Amino acid sequence: MSRTVVGIDIGAGSIRAAEVRKPGTKHAMVMRAGEVELSPGAVRAGDILEPNSVADALRRLWTTAGFKSKDVVIGVGNHKVISRELALPAMPLKRIRETLAFQVQDMLPVAVDQALLDFYPIRQKEGEGEEGDIVQGLLIAALKEPVEAKVDAVRLAGLNPVGVDLTPFALSRVLVHGRVAVGTTAIIDVGESTTIIVIARDAVPQFVRIVPSGGDDVTRAIVERLGVEASTAEELKRSVGLVAAPHAPEHITTHQYEIVLEIVFSVMSEMLSGLRNTLKYYSSNAGRDVDRVVLTGGVGSVEGFADALSELAQIPVTAGDPLGGFEQAPDSRHTADIDWKDLTVAVGLASGAVQR
Ligand SMILES: Nc1ncnc2c1ncn2[C@@H]1O[C@H](COP(=O)(O)OP(=O)(O)OP(=O)(O)O)[C@@H](O)[C@H]1O
Ligand SMILES: [Mg+2]
Repeated sequence: MSRTVVGIDIGAGSIRAAEVRKPGTKHAMVMRAGEVELSPGAVRAGDILEPNSVADALRRLWTTAGFKSKDVVIGVGNHKVISRELALPAMPLKRIRETLAFQVQDMLPVAVDQALLDFYPIRQKEGEGEEGDIVQGLLIAALKEPVEAKVDAVRLAGLNPVGVDLTPFALSRVLVHGRVAVGTTAIIDVGESTTIIVIARDAVPQFVRIVPSGGDDVTRAIVERLGVEASTAEELKRSVGLVAAPHAPEHITTHQYEIVLEIVFSVMSEMLSGLRNTLKYYSSNAGRDVDRVVLTGGVGSVEGFADALSELAQIPVTAGDPLGGFEQAPDSRHTADIDWKDLTVAVGLASGAVQR
């Protein structure tokens, strides 16, 4: 593996990538970053629908962002990823991973040979199992096919995948640091068609939930009700606002405004109460409160969202620090108009790469 690795976050609307030097070490540093638009329909809810157009976008991104490395880590994180708590007899992690398929075949809705499996230990409990210690952890299962489709699209662009990592872990690697690394922190990423909730206790992820909802739910409902193009619906949505004091912009009719407002209200209420319920579910299962929420993603960053969630869930909510504890090289390069908050996942993916 070369000294730098690029993390690739293939979102619904664009691909974001970040090149990190010395990943996996204390000296990890962000060197270059970039974003490129995807044509509508190329990717939906994390699934690659048009590999050629994704590969084209990646080639463009490598040129515009000037990435030096072709070694990439790909993120996986849509609602088809299953995460469950699992207790297993304590044994070395390597052995757990080797035998996982046998241990979990009855727990999965798909055949084990169609899934990629992994296990992330949370804590060891001494003498609680029938035959000694047990280890409590997170079982993660992802369908193989969509992951392979991502790997293929990346190879089509002439890149070399050196790892596949979970988007929720990439998020927590970047956003759980400093003050936030102590106690129980919920990270919530609300994007276009995916919402990720990952809860870490003392910086170790304990709980992951991924749901297929996001800002696109609002846009699609506007398209259906008003019969307008998706781009118009997106404009209407943004001009009315999602949570903070919506107002009627001059260029839309009262009729349109009322309908958009009604859609925004019902979708956002459902989204916010879904988030509150997930936080409550975790708290009552784990027997401890969530101390704080850190928000990210296009919708999560919209003005008013943090306050609305905080009020509903009665938990302090703050915006994620996009590069977390990672330093940016003084001469770092990036594509024009980059918004660093959109790069969090890409940085997290790259920085978790293991140097061999
Ligand atoms: N100012 C705004 N007002 C309303 N919605 C916004 C605003 N800015 C961004 N959004 C919404 O945020 C969403 C995009 O978020 P984000 O960029 O995090 O998604 P993504 O990473 O591309 O997709 P995903 O993670 O779902 O695959 C879109 O639905 C967009 O309409
Ligand atoms: Mg995203």
